[in-house]
Amino acid sequence: MRVFSGIRASGDKTLGNYSGGFRQYVSTQEEAARASGEAFFCVVDLHSITTPFEPDALRESTLSVAAWLFATGLDPERSTVFAQSHVTAHAEAAWLLSAVTSFGELRRMTQFKEKSEGQDFVSAGLFTYPVLMAGDILLYQADTVPIGDDQRQHLELARNVAERFNQRFGETFTVPRGVYPVAGARVKNLQEPDRLMSTTRGAPAGDVRLVDAPDDIRRKFKTAVTDSGREVVHDLKSKAGISNLIEILSVTTGDSIKQIEARYEGQGYGQFKLDLGEAVVQMLAPFQARYRELRADDVELRRMLARGAEKAAAAAAPTLARVYERMGFVR
Ligand code: TRP
Repeated sequence: MRVFSGIRASGDKTLGNYSGGFRQYVSTQEEAARASGEAFFCVVDLHSITTPFEPDALRESTLSVAAWLFATGLDPERSTVFAQSHVTAHAEAAWLLSAVTSFGELRRMTQFKEKSEGQDFVSAGLFTYPVLMAGDILLYQADTVPIGDDQRQHLELARNVAERFNQRFGETFTVPRGVYPVAGARVKNLQEPDRLMSTTRGAPAGDVRLVDAPDDIRRKFKTAVTDSGREVVHDLKSKAGISNLIEILSVTTGDSIKQIEARYEGQGYGQFKLDLGEAVVQMLAPFQARYRELRADDVELRRMLARGAEKAAAAAAPTLARVYERMGFVR
């Protein structure tokens, strides 16, 4: 069994990225190990140039995301963690697979429509983005792909590309299955609980960044928007703010929503928010310490990525060779 996931190298990562991403990667790593499988985690830096970007920021965010992956528990021995651009097979696969991807299906991608709307420069790469992504997955013969809800359409396209290639050139690719997160994947902004926690949108005061100092984290929770009423109960419709906070506490401590509601019955919001801030601070502390260590010595971090790239390149090579061969390239 093989698992593949791609992680975007962008901005400061938030508690939302931890809850819906990093946290899930670690459990994916454990599951893969139990099934004697292999897990690949790829920092998709090549995807970053499809929208406006700055070279220095790309370099920084690639290293930063890689450091967070290791800091939150991916083990370079058991998993393969690498940067997409370090394995040239990804760029090659994107070109080769573009022959079995139609203009029409790319044009239907809602993410392309959303991201291109109103922009004065729309790169060709933004349009072909899903082909690069299909290559990422198919090169590793991945069975499962842990991925965000917003990526369903892209994953469906990867499956179609695999099937089309297999039909046209003979059985070559595993047709992958998407695995979508259930709990904790939709952490909301603490000031605007109707939007996701993200560093590109929403009120900055409502985003908990993974690099935030403990006192900033405590303050953000203390001043989080709550709803009228005093009861700590989960009700997404009438109590979006409190429901979000309950979900965060549940992810942080592992307690169920019911247990949390019972614990705070008749206590009001104040103590609950204090406890929550403290719980998040405590959860993040060891990750932050490890992150700082990794970032203090980028040489070591780059070495870890280079080792990952070596393993990834070896895993992708046989499939890429087969693709060239089947398509009729002289080898
Ligand atoms: N498009 C994905 C996202 O925006 C990132 C990604 C790129 C990815 N290649 C992938 C995810 C391959 C899973 C598998 O989140």
